[in-house]
Amino acid sequence: MKNVIIAGNWKMNNTMADTTKLLNELKPLVKDAKAEVVVCVPYTNLYVANELLKGSNIKLGAENVHWADNGAFTGEISASMLKELNVEYVIVGHSERRQYFGETDETVNLRAKKAIDNGIKPIICVGETLEERETNQVEKVIVNQVTKALDGICEVGIKSVVIAYEPIWAIGTGKTATAQEANDTIKIVRDTVRKLYNDSIADELLIQYGGSMKPSNVKELMAMKEINGGLIGGASLKAEDFSQIVKY
Ligand code: PGA
Repeated sequence: MKNVIIAGNWKMNNTMADTTKLLNELKPLVKDAKAEVVVCVPYTNLYVANELLKGSNIKLGAENVHWADNGAFTGEISASMLKELNVEYVIVGHSERRQYFGETDETVNLRAKKAIDNGIKPIICVGETLEERETNQVEKVIVNQVTKALDGICEVGIKSVVIAYEPIWAIGTGKTATAQEANDTIKIVRDTVRKLYNDSIADELLIQYGGSMKPSNVKELMAMKEINGGLIGGASLKAEDFSQIVKY
């Protein structure tokens, strides 16, 4: 049986009151899940989520982390701040960060390394635009993003990394990559890691698919050999939908 990690990415959704309601609904629904279950929540909800998730099988994640220990970086959050709240995972390099907030392959790499150094597992996002897919650049783009994101991460560090392959054209659009497209591209990610590290690291690396994954398509996607889970946006905001994905 393959190892599976299903992570919710709440993005800029849910107040503390919403968080309390959603997590209280979700906890009993996923308590027997075989998959690793993670919710990545806005910073303002981390405290309450940490309290609510104590004693549950749901792991806490954040949506970004800065690469400095502390300092004059208005609006940013450090790894030690996340650690104090028992954050175990952090998303880095989400396409929305790259697209709207100037995140680059270099900053993604710095953030991922900082997370690893602090014992937080980075969920590193990669993915191509529609134009890149239509002009046959998927392999080039993915190899480049993965290689740059992992620059300087050692063979011990890579073991805590999760990679999420999220085709940008499939995020929040209702369009899903076909299971075959997702599998083929995730294989490119895995083969890149194979070249950079070795077979056993590549074979054990958890690689998620993300982009309109939902209860109606999760089975087909998860049946594919290379896919170890999902990074779920919209469908993670409803306890029932998210739990159905977790228990596909
Ligand atoms: P989506 O988002 O499931 O709403 O497409 C996925 C993501 O952006 O992580």
